[in-house]
Amino acid sequence: MMSQQNGVPPLVTALKSSAIKNAASFHFPGHNRGHAAPASLTEVIGRTAYVHDLPVLPELGNLFCPHGPILEAQVEAAKLFGSSQTWFLVGGTTSGIHAAIMATCSPGEFLILPRNSHISAISALVLSGAVPKYIIPSSVNHWHIAAAVTPSQVLKAMEELEMEGKKAAAVFITSPTYHGICSNLSKISELCHSRKIPLIVDEAHGAHFGFHSKLPKSALQQGADLVVQSTHKVLCSLTQSSMLHMSGNIVDKEKICRCLRTLQTTSPSFLLLASLDAARAQLSENPDIAFNQAIALADEAKCVLKQIPGYEADEILYKDEEVIGELVGNTCITYVLNLGTCREHVERLLLGIKRLAETYGSIEQAEKKVVNVDAPFDDIMMSLIPRDAFFAGKRKVAIRESIGEVAGELICPYPPGVPVLIPGEVITEKIVDYLLHVRSKGAEINGASDSSLSSIVVCRKL
Ligand SMILES: Cc1ncc(COP(=O)(O)O)c(C=O)c1O
Repeated sequence: MMSQQNGVPPLVTALKSSAIKNAASFHFPGHNRGHAAPASLTEVIGRTAYVHDLPVLPELGNLFCPHGPILEAQVEAAKLFGSSQTWFLVGGTTSGIHAAIMATCSPGEFLILPRNSHISAISALVLSGAVPKYIIPSSVNHWHIAAAVTPSQVLKAMEELEMEGKKAAAVFITSPTYHGICSNLSKISELCHSRKIPLIVDEAHGAHFGFHSKLPKSALQQGADLVVQSTHKVLCSLTQSSMLHMSGNIVDKEKICRCLRTLQTTSPSFLLLASLDAARAQLSENPDIAFNQAIALADEAKCVLKQIPGYEADEILYKDEEVIGELVGNTCITYVLNLGTCREHVERLLLGIKRLAETYGSIEQAEKKVVNVDAPFDDIMMSLIPRDAFFAGKRKVAIRESIGEVAGELICPYPPGVPVLIPGEVITEKIVDYLLHVRSKGAEINGASDSSLSSIVVCRKL
């Protein structure tokens, strides 16, 4: 568990002092410290947010050349999370993943990554020009979700590259996944480090890891070199604010700084940055007990839920009880419990599910949607790397006419959320049959510009 840290938020304190000054301000943003804030929004959120929405000022510091309160806030975060350096991000974990991959993989170099990586990893392949070496995760069958990436899968991918005389420039793992599935990062980082390959971990959903004995160790504690966390998802910062942590000395720190400068806005929001500082300070106050209540509520809820038969329930729960889940699958719904979860909300969730069980006492609906054909991953053929596919001309064709063409868009049926086509891959008859089958079973088709799959975007031939 992490030790007690400084609970004072330096950036929040600096923002407060700066905002209460009676300044004659001739700087951006145009609402001029709230003086010209539009009433339609101040009536909803008040003027205070505008008053504190300040630009880069000497007393606050500069995100891209950190000094003063920004630097202090990042240093406190590094201490709490156990990194050698932490960068605050205003473009979400998406921007951290882009920077981490761009800083470690140059055009033509190989990145080992799971096929079901978040779309930001695929767009990082476009930005970096790296060549993907995919690991196909198996599935946790009864839940119809993707399983963890195992150390032996990573080793196999490394060895396959080595047999061709190639070496991975980095390994990218998502742990936990959206559904909370964790990989054995200690073993994977050992494997990577024995070959001097950096391990990047997408820990978007795991910023709380390492802060309670019932939670897994964090990616940094398990030896990862670069870790990106959506502080706004699990902890309490504002949406869009995330952190990128570094450890060890395999990765070039200056390269990370250059990538972040390239990828992020030159006008970062100090409200977002201060919210990261505040979230860190909130956790620093009581790192060992902060999650006690959320974990106890989650344990209780799991215990009750296990005794209730399950159904596809999201829409009904939303309509009848105003209970809103995070992610809906065929055989599971993900409900996120966090530091803001109160007993009344958990009770409403449990009551809603009990009512649902009484009213809709059959599992017909769920069974109808179960897809029992394996996705065609054994013969993936990459005709263009994602970067070249991104820049290639595109056209739309009827789905049956797409056979033999090169995919121009990512197609990811959910569940289980593993892309069947990634731009640049050759579309086969088996893939088309599979996609039409899962669509007929009610799977949601993510990424496709035509989600009914009557048509599909393909790359124009050069
Ligand atoms: C696994 C995973 N990685 C990365 C991201 C991107 O995070 P952000 O929304 O902070 O950019 C998400 C977002 O849902 C995610 O689920």
